[in-house]
Parts: sequence; C-alpha cells; structure tokens
Amino acid sequence: MPFNTNETDRLLSSTRSVKKRLDLEREVSEELLLDCIDIAEQAPTGGNQSSRRWLVIRDPKIKKEIAELYREVGGQFLKEQSERLDGTGHHNEKTIKASSYLADHLEEVPVLVLVTIYGEHDGSGRPGLFDSVIQAAWSFCLALRSRGLGSAWTTMHLGNANKIAELLDIPDGVTQIVLLPVAHTLGDEFSPVSRDSAREITWFEGWGKTTKKPTNGLPSFQDGPGLTLETDIKSTPEKLWDLISDINISSTFSNEFEGADWIDEIPQEGARFKGRNKNEKIGEWEVTCYVTSYETNKVFAWAAGDIEKPAATWEFRLIPLAGATRLRFAMSLGPGPSGLTRIIEQMPDSEKKIISNRQKDQLVNMRKTIEGIKKLAEQN
Ligand SMILES: Cc1cc2nc3c(=O)[nH]c(=O)nc-3n(C[C@H](O)[C@H](O)[C@H](O)COP(=O)(O)O)c2cc1C
Repeated sequence: MPFNTNETDRLLSSTRSVKKRLDLEREVSEELLLDCIDIAEQAPTGGNQSSRRWLVIRDPKIKKEIAELYREVGGQFLKEQSERLDGTGHHNEKTIKASSYLADHLEEVPVLVLVTIYGEHDGSGRPGLFDSVIQAAWSFCLALRSRGLGSAWTTMHLGNANKIAELLDIPDGVTQIVLLPVAHTLGDEFSPVSRDSAREITWFEGWGKTTKKPTNGLPSFQDGPGLTLETDIKSTPEKLWDLISDINISSTFSNEFEGADWIDEIPQEGARFKGRNKNEKIGEWEVTCYVTSYETNKVFAWAAGDIEKPAATWEFRLIPLAGATRLRFAMSLGPGPSGLTRIIEQMPDSEKKIISNRQKDQLVNMRKTIEGIKKLAEQN
C-alpha cells in the first residue's frame, strides 16, 4: 500500500530538536518508549547484527547526576553565549538560548535515553558495526514525534563520557552516541526550517557540479550547468564581506578575469559594473554585470550580460560556522548567449565536451579565487 507522503513528509520535515517545548510534568510510559525502540531497531545494521543498546534513565537522582555532568561540559558556555546573543538577532540566538534552557532543565525531563553501541571507532576509515547507530537513533526520534513526543539530539555529555560510563556501569568497548531527553511535547505544531535547497548542495557526476534543470549524464547548455566551490576560512562574515563585495577581487587570482569598474556608483541590488575578461580560447571580452543580490555580510551575486537572459550568473555566499566562515562561490552558465554559445554553434555535436572543458577552466579560476581570498583573510 503506498504511503500518504503528505503525512510522512510532514513527519520527516517537522521533527525538530525540541528543547523548550518538552512537557516536564507529564510522564512517559515505558510501553511507548519500547514501541519506539522496536521501530528504531528496524534501521540497517552492519553485518545484520544487533549491536545497539538503549539506556532509559528515569530515576531523579541519576538524571540529576547526568544533568550535572552535561552542564559541567558546556553549561557555562551556553549561559554566556545566551546572554551575549540576547536581542542581537544573531542567526544562532534562538538555538543557543534553547540549548541553554535545556541544559538548565535536563534533570526535569521525564526520561533521558542514552543510545550506545558495541564498538569503538578504530580510525580505519572503514565502516563497521560501529556505524550502525545514528540511523536507529533518528528513527527513534521520528517514532516519538509521530506519537506526540519530542526530543533533541544532544552530545554535550560526551565531554564527560567516562564519568557517565562509570555512573551507569557502561562497559569498556561500548560507545555512547547521543543522549535523547524524551517528553510529550507542548503542542504538536512544529514547522520545517530553512535549509540549503537540494539543487544547491546536490552535485552530479563530480564534486561541485550543479545543474539548474533535470539532466541525465553530462549537461547541455540549456540545462544550466554550474559549479560550486567552498572553503572554510578562519574569519568572520563581517571581515570577509569587504573582500567578496570587491568586484576586483577575482582579478587578483583568476587567469582570465582582468578587472571590473562600477557603472552605477552605489553598489546595491540592480547596480551595474563592467567586467573585462581574457582567455586564449574565447579571446577578450567585456561584459556588463547586474547585481542580483546584495545582502551585507551574506550574499553578493550578479548576472553577466543581460539581467533577464544572462550569459552566466555568479554568487559569493558567506555561511557562518562556529569559529569560521564557509565561503561558497557558485556560478551557472546561461541561459543567454555568450562567447561559449558561439563556439557551441560552430560545433554543435561537441556541445557537452565544450561545456565540460569550459568548466574545467572555470574550476581552476574559481578555486584560485576562493583560496586567494582565504589566504588574504587568514593572514590579516
Ligand atoms: C551532532 C549533533 C550534536 C548536537 N548536540 C547538541 C547538544 O549537545 N545540545 C543541544 O542542546 N543541542 C544539540 N544539537 C541540536 C542542534 O542544536 C539542533 O539540531 C539545531 O539547533 C537545529 O535545530 P533543529 O534540529 O530543530 O533543526 C545537536 C545536533 C546534532 C546534529
């Protein structure tokens, strides 16, 4: 019987980390927990062996000791961060506050479920029995959600894993993976959150290769072939913004970009600049570029040639991480005409090969650009 995908998709996209909406007053029945564990045990397991072990903690005294060990690792940090970010609208403000709240109230959550596995990561790089646990723990969270309960994936306790092992008599050779505080939820409406779209982070036939349209095998020009490169930089979005919003930055590093000048004075969405390029296969060319997105400290994007039918679109994006910033540099070809489309018109049978070769050159230049920006930012 087919699934009602509206319901399964709702379950999969609304199983949030519940930290402030856990019902601390209502008991959780053991039957319910065991049902969810039985379902979770349907997850794949290496060698088809039973290697996961679930520890259910309800004794208030033991919960308190676990909560104290949890807070010992990062409670103070969460409190400080929570105060520092209060009212700033920082992208992580809500998460940190909720995490701090959970840390403060951990012993009050009716049940703590510690998911463990027989095995230790041996550093061999090969998956083994050890890797059989996360899929089951997540299934457990989904099973909880579908029954009106909630949890949050927490790992802070792992900083005190040895003390927790001692407290719970966990033998050597067993690894703790995640501590799931479990409770009925206060209300059951939880929404999907904003994440990167699949097209941005799904790459076809090779690292970083994107298309704008569904494609089978190597893309044609009309599929909107593109490239995405990323690098993590030890710097802040604020500091990196000055570099990525400088229209001449790529010319410092790229073999084929010669420089650019603003046509409109104020850089903002809709403003234009003229770029100068040179490449031995295509020759020299100038192109008017239109800023399509200008979000300070976040995104600088432009369309080359024509705003409606660009020859190519380009984007720098800054993604904040803990202690670093991920710089994403993405481009996609078309749909408008360009030097490349003229070459394709001359040799239509070689279209896919021409595109693939063009992308090899672009990859080199784009990599040089992001690595150059990284070097500049990290040496300052
Ligand atoms: C590997 C991992 C470790 C995490 N560790 C903690 C933790 O120790 N404490 C905590 O409060 N939340 C922890 N979280 C939950 C994240 O804060 C949470 O997933 C994130 O805020 C996004 O919220 P969402 O899951 O509702 O989308 C962890 C999540 C993951 C995936």
